[in-house]
Amino acid sequence: MRRHPGLRLLSEEHHYALAQARDLRLVGSDQCELSPAAVLERFLVFWDEGGHDHFRKEEELLLPLYNRYAPVNTVEMLGLFIQHTQIRRQVMLLRTAAELQEKELIELLHKLGQDLEAHIRQEERIVFPLVEATVPDDVLGAFESYSLS
Ligand SMILES: [Fe+2]
Ligand SMILES: [Fe+2]
Repeated sequence: MRRHPGLRLLSEEHHYALAQARDLRLVGSDQCELSPAAVLERFLVFWDEGGHDHFRKEEELLLPLYNRYAPVNTVEMLGLFIQHTQIRRQVMLLRTAAELQEKELIELLHKLGQDLEAHIRQEERIVFPLVEATVPDDVLGAFESYSLS
């Protein structure tokens, strides 16, 4: 899928997030060599170093920009906020996962992996195309230079 240059950075970040989601989904199986604790640790580093800011960029910059041209009280845009909140809740819970049994930890990691992957697919297939169809080309082109405060 061709992505508008203004959204290219966010789309690139989705590739890293999908790789994390894959490990989260497969941990505990023979398709993942890392231990659950190692997958969790790596995910939390990814989250703290970029994943969290990616969510913020979408919430604080992209949706307000979109909202200049279209309402955000729609299933698609509300879905984005809801999914972000649910994923944040899971990350919050996993930070205190030290006292969990391994089986319980694996279940939480699998759920996070599934939810994260579904969220990214939803953005790539539904939300970003909506943004591209709604925000004028030149305005969206400047989005790459927007930064979080
Ligand atoms: Fe998102
Ligand atoms: Fe995203």
